Amino acid sequence: MQDRTNNKNQSSQLGGMEDTLWNFFESVGKSLFLISKEIVLGITHQTMPFVNIAIGCLGLFIFFKCDWDQYIWLIFNGGEYYPQKTYGFYRWFFVSSPLWVWAMGQVFSRRKLENRMDSIFSTAGLKDRNGRTPKPLFDRYIGDGIYLMRVKRGPFPMEQYYKAKAYIESGLGIYVDDFKEDRNGGIVDIIYSRSPMPSQVHFSSNTDYELQFLVGSTRSTPVASDLMQTPHLLVAGQTGSGKSTFIRGLITSFYQNSDSMEFSLIDLKGGLEFQLFENLKRVKVIPNIERATKELKDVQMELERRMKLLKENGAKDLEDLKSMEDKEELKRKLVVVDEAAEIFLGGHHATTGELAIARKAISQIARQGRAVGVHLVMATQRPDAKAIDPQVKTNLTGIICFQMPNNVSSMTVIDSGRATHLSDIPGRALWKVGGKLTELQTPYLTIDNAKSRLSKYKSKKINTTKPKQKSIKSFDMEV
Ligand SMILES: Nc1ncnc2c1ncn2[C@@H]1O[C@H](COP(=O)(O)OP(=O)(O)OP(=O)(O)O)[C@@H](O)[C@H]1O
Ligand SMILES: [Mg+2]
Repeated sequence: MQDRTNNKNQSSQLGGMEDTLWNFFESVGKSLFLISKEIVLGITHQTMPFVNIAIGCLGLFIFFKCDWDQYIWLIFNGGEYYPQKTYGFYRWFFVSSPLWVWAMGQVFSRRKLENRMDSIFSTAGLKDRNGRTPKPLFDRYIGDGIYLMRVKRGPFPMEQYYKAKAYIESGLGIYVDDFKEDRNGGIVDIIYSRSPMPSQVHFSSNTDYELQFLVGSTRSTPVASDLMQTPHLLVAGQTGSGKSTFIRGLITSFYQNSDSMEFSLIDLKGGLEFQLFENLKRVKVIPNIERATKELKDVQMELERRMKLLKENGAKDLEDLKSMEDKEELKRKLVVVDEAAEIFLGGHHATTGELAIARKAISQIARQGRAVGVHLVMATQRPDAKAIDPQVKTNLTGIICFQMPNNVSSMTVIDSGRATHLSDIPGRALWKVGGKLTELQTPYLTIDNAKSRLSKYKSKKINTTKPKQKSIKSFDMEV
């Protein structure tokens, strides 16, 4: 009876030991797997600090090569335990330690990030029926005050990410700039910053050169463009979002910086927006569709004349032509249409014939204006195919898209629903050039400020000395 109990105790002790051993090997195996996984991910996502690790390993290699480790054993009186038999393993274990120490750190920080993001994504509604949320792959600083968190997209449409933006921001105490989707890789990059977007950016006409203009400011840097890079602009957004204010700044900046640029300002909402530019030399303010048609026709004729000049002289563009001697002075022209839909949809008393002439002129300016220095800025609340000819739209290479009322209108302008999710702050916009979208705050220039900047040009003759140019970085912003 006692024997049986002893046997039982022995076998249960053995079983206990087996379990402990099994648990030990299981956790060693698991840790090795997790560490190796981090190393593979670090290489594939290029998040591993290769240089630092390599320097660490090299330093330790030299340390062992010089047998300095033996001194350390001796200092701690452990000379007799020195691992002579397993020296190879012992040495490589320590030499490679920067790599696995880094990987272990990654395992812990990933687990922490996963737990944190799981609760944030759940609150934000990014949770499927099985309770799964998007899995973070890494989170790292990419420079210029910007961070990138890559997550596995999961079954969630991008719309859901945009809706979750406010939750992610408040959960992590960050400001999300952008969500970028990589459909092939099934991943979403969350681009964010720790500083807020400025709620107001002061207007500045201090650009680096004549054709440059300030588009706005992101959380960290001012964004500028010029009429060579973006010769024609589309300014779209719902009512009150900041279109006319942006255009006011653009015209003022060009007027102050260039002493030759000519302006045709067409305001089809009654002519009030451009009233402040009246009586300025080089500026024509056109308040109705009848006069707009005539002006556009004149610009079109001038464009055709310049195209002919280019051909005759074998010049490739306006600058090329200007550089040829004895050529008349050809001035750049900026044609601005506030509420372009009025031209494409009608609505005023203009005849269909007149509208057709205006549309044809706009279309030609959009197609050929770049080469001959005729630039177009079109603003509209309604950016659909009827309100702006799609062919014209393709030639409007720089797009400022303010807040949009719905997904369809946002898609029409920037091929993304993001403009619906912009915050309500006037002046908050997305700047699109090529495929790149940048969220920014456009500069704020009040009517009074614009008037006082331009007053000196109204009373006197045109000031032919160019204003002193400063860097575009010298403007203020309020957060
Ligand atoms: N960049 C900005 N920064 C701060 N406030 C702005 C900015 N842009 C516009 N606002 C504010 O928003 C108001 C409306 O702006 P604005 O008239 O430019 O809008 P809009 O898009 O032209 O509207 P609508 O389509 O009705 O003409 C301005 O009076 C101004 O107070
Ligand atoms: Mg307006």
